[in-house]
Amino acid sequence: MKQIISPSLLSANFLKLEDDINIINKSNADWFHIDVMDGVFVPNISFGFPIIKFIKKAAEKPLDVHLMIVDPDKYITDFKNVGADYLTVHYETCNHLHRTIQNIKANGMKAGVSLNPHTNISVLEDVIGDLDLVLLMSVNPGFGGQKFIENTYKKIEQLSILKEKYNKNLIIEIDGGVDNTNYKKLLDKGANALVAGSYIFKSENMFEAIDVLKG
Ligand code: DX5
Ligand code: ZN
Repeated sequence: MKQIISPSLLSANFLKLEDDINIINKSNADWFHIDVMDGVFVPNISFGFPIIKFIKKAAEKPLDVHLMIVDPDKYITDFKNVGADYLTVHYETCNHLHRTIQNIKANGMKAGVSLNPHTNISVLEDVIGDLDLVLLMSVNPGFGGQKFIENTYKKIEQLSILKEKYNKNLIIEIDGGVDNTNYKKLLDKGANALVAGSYIFKSENMFEAIDVLKG
């Protein structure tokens, strides 16, 4: 299967959000990446339930929701109710990660876990069999438009070994600084889903930018 492309709406034009959503609908992109930030886990605040509810009304593709919030357990049902299809929590925010993953799945969503650039892949070994997706941050979470961290390649290789051993259907998604210069190497190392914000939304032709990443 071809790689999944998940444009990050964090870089969209919020004044004309529906127009940008319609472009993604018509494009060859696969998902909508939705970044939720609380100003506590990350030094930025993005948007919450009312906006996601409207995005869901216009979006014709699955919502890939990336929670950068402390205590995500509190809100799992709410995210289901506003239309999340994939719900990804940060390893660094969960004291009882196994329970959180079960909770996401019990609410009828696909479960993902994200790791910050400093968090070692090995922490996933005992839950990877339960996951649909692992989201590797290739920048420190909080902002779009940051520089890609090269160490990510090594982490994809390490994660691919665990995937082979425990969960061959796992989606390995990369988030942060993804563009036309690095997407190929990310895929070669074993990634099969790419998030891209500024590369897509700041390009002159979003359809073409998506097609470049789609390969
Ligand atoms: C950063 C977010 C990313 C961000 C990516 O914390 O998780 O999804 O929107 O943006 P770019 O592709 O511009 O690095
Ligand atoms: Zn994200």
